Amino acid sequence: MKNTIVIGNDHGAVELKNSIVKHLKDKGFQINDLGTGEGESVDYPDKAEELCREYLRGDYKFGILLCGTGIGISISANKIKGIRCALPQNLFAAEMCKLHNNANIIAFGGRIEYPDSVTDMIDKYIATEFEGGRHDRRVSKIMNLEV
Ligand code: RB5
Repeated sequence: MKNTIVIGNDHGAVELKNSIVKHLKDKGFQINDLGTGEGESVDYPDKAEELCREYLRGDYKFGILLCGTGIGISISANKIKGIRCALPQNLFAAEMCKLHNNANIIAFGGRIEYPDSVTDMIDKYIATEFEGGRHDRRVSKIMNLEV
């Protein structure tokens, strides 16, 4: 069972990244942190690309991407072949993005106020298995949209 999670962030989500890394390490996961630290400004498309390429070449359970809103970094990630990056708004969406969409990367915003905690959403995503069946067909159709 894969136990390593890759995480990346821009300057809009350093604090959020630190709290997620602590949470996941406490749960026994190994973390490969490709994100930026305090005081360094980076462009979110560069972080998205770096993380997605590493995810695709490595043996990761999944990936986490963070920017101020989660929007720019998830849009960027979804340009890369093989990536299905979700931007869940709440616990329900965090569950569904694995159950139905089999997202391999999840994104969040460090400047967003969520109704549920981001670590709870990540735990829900981890605890959920892809349902397959008719969703397999739909996910294949998503991937067939890649050019
Ligand atoms: C960076 O200031 C900010 O634009 C970025 O973190 C993100 O919110 C973009 O979608």
